[in-house]
Amino acid sequence: MKDAAPQTIYLRDYAPFDYVVDSVQLTFKLTPTATRVTSRIAFRPNPATTTRDFFLHGEQLRLIGARIDGKSIDPEITSTGLRCDVPDAPFVFEAEVEISPDTNTALEGLYMSGGMYCTQCEAEGFRKITFYPDRPDVMGVFTVRIESDLPVLLSNGNPVTSGDGWAEWHDPWPKPAYLFALVAGDLVNQPDTFTTMSGRDVDLNIWVRPGDEGKCAFGMKALKKSMKWDEDVYGREYDLDVFNIVAVDDFNMGAMENKGLNIFNSSAVLASPETSTDANFERIEAIIAHEYFHNWTGNRITCRDWFQLCLKEGLTVFRDQQFTGDMRGQAVKRINDAVVLRAHQFREDNGPLAHPVRPTSFVEINNFYTVTIYEKGAEIIGMLRRLVGPDAYEKALDLYFTRHDGDAATIEDWLKVFEDATGRDLTQFAKWYSQAGTPRVAVSEEYTDGTYTLTLRQHTPPTPGQDHKDALVIPVAVGLLNENGDEVVPTQLLELTQAEQSFTFGGLASRPIPSILRDLSAPVILEHEQTSARRAFLLAHDTDPFNKWDAGRTLAQDVLVAMVRDGATPDAAYLDGLAAVLRDDGLDPAFRALVLALPSEDDTAQALVDAGDTPDPSAIYDAHETLKLHIAQHLQDLLPRVYADMTVTAPYHPDADQAGKRTLGNGVLALLARIDGGRQAAAQYTAADNMTQQLAALATLLKAGKGAAELAKFEREWQDDRLVMDKWFGLQVSCAAPDAAVQTAQKLTDHPAFTMKNPNRFRAVFGALAGNAAGFHHPSGAGYALLADWLIKLDALNPQTTARMTAAFSTWRRYDAERQAMMRAALQRIADTPDLSRDTTEMVSRILD
Ligand code: BES
Ligand code: ZN
Repeated sequence: MKDAAPQTIYLRDYAPFDYVVDSVQLTFKLTPTATRVTSRIAFRPNPATTTRDFFLHGEQLRLIGARIDGKSIDPEITSTGLRCDVPDAPFVFEAEVEISPDTNTALEGLYMSGGMYCTQCEAEGFRKITFYPDRPDVMGVFTVRIESDLPVLLSNGNPVTSGDGWAEWHDPWPKPAYLFALVAGDLVNQPDTFTTMSGRDVDLNIWVRPGDEGKCAFGMKALKKSMKWDEDVYGREYDLDVFNIVAVDDFNMGAMENKGLNIFNSSAVLASPETSTDANFERIEAIIAHEYFHNWTGNRITCRDWFQLCLKEGLTVFRDQQFTGDMRGQAVKRINDAVVLRAHQFREDNGPLAHPVRPTSFVEINNFYTVTIYEKGAEIIGMLRRLVGPDAYEKALDLYFTRHDGDAATIEDWLKVFEDATGRDLTQFAKWYSQAGTPRVAVSEEYTDGTYTLTLRQHTPPTPGQDHKDALVIPVAVGLLNENGDEVVPTQLLELTQAEQSFTFGGLASRPIPSILRDLSAPVILEHEQTSARRAFLLAHDTDPFNKWDAGRTLAQDVLVAMVRDGATPDAAYLDGLAAVLRDDGLDPAFRALVLALPSEDDTAQALVDAGDTPDPSAIYDAHETLKLHIAQHLQDLLPRVYADMTVTAPYHPDADQAGKRTLGNGVLALLARIDGGRQAAAQYTAADNMTQQLAALATLLKAGKGAAELAKFEREWQDDRLVMDKWFGLQVSCAAPDAAVQTAQKLTDHPAFTMKNPNRFRAVFGALAGNAAGFHHPSGAGYALLADWLIKLDALNPQTTARMTAAFSTWRRYDAERQAMMRAALQRIADTPDLSRDTTEMVSRILD
């Protein structure tokens, strides 16, 4: 059935549903192409509303029959739902529908993945399962019966009873339909238990396909650590007898927090040293924590409507960031988060897809699970915590949980809790939720007679549909150093609330060197002209690890911009500063690795745009290559020593200490290859007993134009492991030289293991193509054309993943006229595709407008 004409939904139109759901009973008779779903839902008129419109969402459902209070009815059915007359008193609505999980390639609603049934209902997938008020403010208590010959039958809540070919589940916690889940399959589990702080035992399971049971242990440990951490840090205890996690191969996202039954993309839970990299382990630990933390921030307190998405996602991301910081080191975690924030969120905020953390309208909600809602949403919570302090933050959170437990809440509710707990007026702060765009904060300094004056000016450029911007509350953490590198004024939090504001520091013996926006205390761009000598000084001496790193990063960025612009040779201040950091054994290897890493080619493109230039991806690629060669030559004597120092002799463990050493060792390995032609990398590949070392060596070889034999060997070794093969597909494209990337991607689509139906595999190839800047933006336009061809094909199967990937074209305005024309043509070709999904239509039109 074709989608109805796309409709824009507005926050201002919010109205509660006219009926309340008291209970829901669902029965699933599972068959691949004709699953029967019967529902029995107890409704009553909502005393809080005066209108009486009984409309239930429903899409792609075949109605077999419907009844009200036992009497058959003949409701009006449209492509979006069902409407009928109902009593003005409590009543029971029953329906039987037929759906076809086996042909559901969109992976939304009930679908099949590798012989197993599973669901994905957030945001609006439940309406593809049965007729229901599919909105987060309608909450009900669900009882579910599953009938199937498959051995493992799971749903939300606690198990009730089961027999041969059936099982019943009951979830005592009222929940919105988006948290519903069902799984049926031939699965094996790795059981464990957790005793909560009040002494209740909870059964924990990670369910996987037979053969994957050896890859569950790490995820289980991560789950138990998350449960403990949420008790210790937020006082939050788990609230059911069981917690189930299921690994699914075909999944659009990373994972989903369904009540008591989290469903994970297998890439986000399965791990072993042989098949997973350190980065995979870290991501798995973070995602397990994130979905677990949703049990309180998302499930117990949910969102009134999807405009409030950041209420659960921003807060839960903030919580998982705190958790990862506690597990693996705050400084390195903050830098990693800042890299993502700047590379993706600042970019989104600066282009056609910019939107507020709480948007005011959308066409397809799936398009709003964005870095802005997630990462900037998390930054807003971080700023709040900085402004009120950790103790008041804790008090406010306690109040939030007691006041809103069981609610479908709003951002207003959230801010009110902080106002009530702290007595602070958050009217101006609230603008962070409604105003899009990244603020720029310009710095000027003055020093006279022992008094230092720092003047900060804030300015937010216009974004689509928002020309005027107000001044925001910006917490700016500042410390002052003297010329010896001693901290003469420790970190203070300045509150910038006006367009321009000055702050003075008295009693100084000499002109201080400021360290501004420490720990990236706000998601803003600092505009602070400084000499490279000053930046090198901060790289060497800043006591704030974030700003120490950032000084090096800015130096590197300036070097790259100068190289692209006028072929300058790299500044010695940068190369010497880098050498000093690399040599400093007192610094955490993970930190040193971050200083060694260059800005991405896309970062350099943006830096050139900011400097008023039109970026040329080919020239940027060349500059990056040249700089790496310069660095390798400059550090020639140091590299072998550092590489040797980073050798881990203990058995592989994915902890932060070992991982940090490998990250630095592999950063050095990539530089060494520019001198030794890949000799060391080939040796590492042969010796590797874990995926981190194997993959890093292979990547280095491929980038050096070598590694054909290793690549073939890798394929033979790993052809039966889907997740490892995703790496094999992706690496070839991401490591391809600019002239070869498109052809490599194209050729991989002919490989027998390539499939469009698996989002991980599709993203491995085409996500890597979009991420290979010089390859994707090849002057021939072949990158644009190939991606457009495949997105058009994918849209017919999987609109959600297609729509997300169109964002690769969102920077089209940056480039020269030829590239702009080719990118626009590719976008237009997607837009003109007959029957294009609502998801992709919305994205392409926003990008083009
Ligand atoms: N609730 C989301 C999953 C989701 C996203 C469902 C979009 C439907 C549409 C989940 O909690 C989530 O945010 N997952 C992230 C990972 C997380 C660590 C940020 C994901 O899947 O990428
Ligand atoms: Zn989430």
